[in-house]
Amino acid sequence: MSEWIPVEGLRIAIDGPSGSGKGTIATMVGKALGLVVMDTGLLYRFLGWRVNDLGIDLNDEPAVVAAVDSAVAEMDWRAEGIFFENRDCTPLLRGEDVGAYASKVAAISAIRKQLLELQRKIAASGCVMDGRDIGTVVLPDAEAKFFLTASHRERARRRWVQLQQSDAEVTLDQIVDDLKARDARDSGRDCSPLERAKDAIEIDSTTMRIDEVVDRILAVLERRRLIS
Ligand code: DC
Repeated sequence: MSEWIPVEGLRIAIDGPSGSGKGTIATMVGKALGLVVMDTGLLYRFLGWRVNDLGIDLNDEPAVVAAVDSAVAEMDWRAEGIFFENRDCTPLLRGEDVGAYASKVAAISAIRKQLLELQRKIAASGCVMDGRDIGTVVLPDAEAKFFLTASHRERARRRWVQLQQSDAEVTLDQIVDDLKARDARDSGRDCSPLERAKDAIEIDSTTMRIDEVVDRILAVLERRRLIS
């Protein structure tokens, strides 16, 4: 049983750059509140992976848009992960290469528009949703919004530790380069760039433990009477 009771339909938006800890934090907040956690990065990762797997050039925008159209119809996005052809393909989506494909697909505005309704529908009955544009574009009226940050070095270190479990070949320097490229693409794109919503609470987690960040979020929610 969860420790807290959220108000009905509570939607919590958690945004931040790669390695800011939003995935882990969202999972822990969701668990504490008994809310479904939806990782929107996984959605873009699946689409990037699928388009690449079909042999489509990720720079060929019309071809990518057409492929994404059918990929969305073929997948089943659940709280546990993304299912494709009746199997959970989430473990295939976590690598750095797929992150780079995802970032390219995510920069195409037609694709972002297409995914809006899907994300809103899933969030409607209450959830913790994490991504880059949840507080600004997907759920601008979310009941609570948080924007997580951490220093560049700390983010790269966290990502490296995480990847040691799968992609052991990746070096810290490669991750730093990849983070920089991805930050530039995610923050510099015209459509729904990564940015803090004006009404989001920013938490710099560089020197904080995970449980301290979670406690801070829960304290905000309790103070606003969104949980009891
Ligand atoms: O959080 P992540 O690393 O799994 O996200 C993969 C890519 O998807 C990342 O480059 C940014 C993009 N993304 C996005 O543009 N909007 C979101 N809401 C979530 C992810």
